[in-house]
Amino acid sequence: MITPPDPFDVRGRVVVVTGGLGQLGRQFAGALVGRGAQVAVVDLDIAARVDATYGPEKAGLGYFFVEGDVTSRASLERALQQIEQRWGPPYALVNNAALDSPPGAAAGENGPFEEYPEASWDRVMEVNAKGVFLACQVFGGRMARAGRGSIINIASIYGLVSPDQRIYEYRRRGGEAFFKPVAYSASKSAVLNLTRYLATYWAPHGVRVNTLTFAGVFNNQDEEFLKGYCAKVPLGRMAREDEYNGAVIFLCSDASSYMTGSNVVLDGGFTAW
Ligand SMILES: NC(=O)c1ccc[n+]([C@@H]2O[C@H](COP(=O)([O-])OP(=O)(O)OC[C@H]3O[C@@H](n4cnc5c(N)ncnc54)[C@H](O)[C@@H]3O)[C@@H](O)[C@H]2O)c1
Repeated sequence: MITPPDPFDVRGRVVVVTGGLGQLGRQFAGALVGRGAQVAVVDLDIAARVDATYGPEKAGLGYFFVEGDVTSRASLERALQQIEQRWGPPYALVNNAALDSPPGAAAGENGPFEEYPEASWDRVMEVNAKGVFLACQVFGGRMARAGRGSIINIASIYGLVSPDQRIYEYRRRGGEAFFKPVAYSASKSAVLNLTRYLATYWAPHGVRVNTLTFAGVFNNQDEEFLKGYCAKVPLGRMAREDEYNGAVIFLCSDASSYMTGSNVVLDGGFTAW
């Protein structure tokens, strides 16, 4: 019996994952390597952080760890050069590196909108919006010259809808001036239309560009936050950190060959009501 080709096959594909030392980037890289892809993990302070994140797994043949700052075109060009020397031009790019203000961030980062620091706005926009733009220029530009590829831009439900500040009411009752800040939302909205722009721009060159929108991932958040957040999720819980891997595989493979300019939402139903 002849086995039909697997549309989700990613074997041998060179995939760049920015922010690949973080909670989700590590998952994407592992899932891709596990299916035979060759993954270039591009992140900051690689030498100091890689052992703690990947341990012995990093010696696996499918990984290449490359220093790269998404806010610097020169740094990304150096990263591309190293990746090309090792494996040739990338096939896919997962624009995953980003800054958020976690609930435990410094007081000013999570204060009222009127006092949100301009410097914090600039930093978040620089990594989350300009960083995606620069990585698309450098890695996406190379993919377009090769005439094929897939770009996956990671966004958030907070790029589609506003954070519900009522979730954080318990912190304000405790005396803090806590609000989920604005820059993250604005930066993730920017990603959605950068995706559409590039999807149409590069369609004639065989490069597909899509957004993956995620909701919150469980990471030992405090009980009161979990209660408020999960009440807003039809599935009643936060995502497990491995639950987005399938969508990344889908977009790196030919299973998504007719998809470009789209936004794939994995949010447990958060934006459905
Ligand atoms: N974790 C969640 O709950 C959640 C929810 C929705 C969307 N997302 C999105 O998923 C993606 C991954 O999130 P995460 O939770 O794994 O984040 P994380 O903070 O664990 O990892 C982010 C990684 O990006 C890297 N990074 C930051 N600035 C960089 C720069 N200038 N150059 C290169 N790398 C840089 C960091 O070093 C880090 O390794 C992000 O785009 C995030 O916005 C996450």
